[in-house]
Amino acid sequence: MILKDFFIGLSQNQLLNSAAKKYGLKLGAQNVVAGTNIAETIESIKELNKHGISCTVDNLGEFVFEKEEATAAKNQILAVIQAIHENGVDAHISLKPSQLGLDIDYEFCKENIKEIVSAAHEYGIFVNFDMEDNARLQPSFNLLDELSENYDNIGTVIQAYFFRAEEDLHQHKNYRLRIVKGAYKESPEVAYQDKQEIDKNYIKLIEWHLLNGKFTSIATHDHNVINHVKQFVKENNIPNEKFEFQMLYGFRKEMQLDLAKEGYNFCTYVPFGQDWYGYFMRRLAERPQNMNLVVKQVFTK
Ligand code: FDA
Repeated sequence: MILKDFFIGLSQNQLLNSAAKKYGLKLGAQNVVAGTNIAETIESIKELNKHGISCTVDNLGEFVFEKEEATAAKNQILAVIQAIHENGVDAHISLKPSQLGLDIDYEFCKENIKEIVSAAHEYGIFVNFDMEDNARLQPSFNLLDELSENYDNIGTVIQAYFFRAEEDLHQHKNYRLRIVKGAYKESPEVAYQDKQEIDKNYIKLIEWHLLNGKFTSIATHDHNVINHVKQFVKENNIPNEKFEFQMLYGFRKEMQLDLAKEGYNFCTYVPFGQDWYGYFMRRLAERPQNMNLVVKQVFTK
């Protein structure tokens, strides 16, 4: 818990964040970030596609408090959509509302996301709204629900650590949903703190959405959950078209390939860009063993 807090603290440090941006992929981040630019990222996607793995692309970025930065992020995501289309790769978009101006102005953010969703819609590309911390949760659902009046190529994430997750899931069952345990530090007033309670709720939400929802993305590196889901879909005759497994780029690579080989739909979350620092620190917070990636990098230079 102390280590988790330590890395979450580092992830929120704006000074370190901007220093990291300046000095490029370091500390082993290149193992979990697909590239610093779109061309490199498309090559990483092609490689995964060769193995029957689809991708969801995340333009990394945090601490956006200026409109110019949000506009730059929007333009970058529009360029990714164009590149996905031109290269004919099997990929969709994951975006974070805060990167597109949610902390600046709700309407401004909505217009930015609308532009992205509309461009993606033209090419038949899906756009996932990643979920961030509790403060941004309801505004993000509001953005999704408002935009869904005109677009059907959008979906979001349900974080199982929130007490409200079950209610949110039921309300949004007609969306394609990614279900995760939850990555941010949340207070005991709004979220389960105990790992067993989170895991229990996680399974409950996955099962419910598999039985009642549109399409379920089970996003986890937890083999116990994956094995449970394999058994559950078999027992309930849930066809492969109704769900997929998702993992982050660079994590449990063998298992990713194995699941795809076994015939399950598999999607890798592919983060790219120069703003890798906060993302990387959150991964260390989740699993300090990921420090191995860092240590290996230091010793194999
Ligand atoms: P967890 O960290 O609970 O680990 C369970 C067990 O799995 C471990 O004890 C270990 O045995 C095994 N394990 C885990 N990682 C391993 C590894 N690398 N190697 C070997 N064994 C390993 N969060 C959020 O708040 N909003 C979001 O939008 C998203 N989006 C998202 C997309 C995708 C594709 C993924 C995979 C995850 C997210 N997350 C997220 C993050 C998510 O909420 C969660 O923090 C992490 O996935 C960590 O939880 P896990 O379920 O992976 O396993």
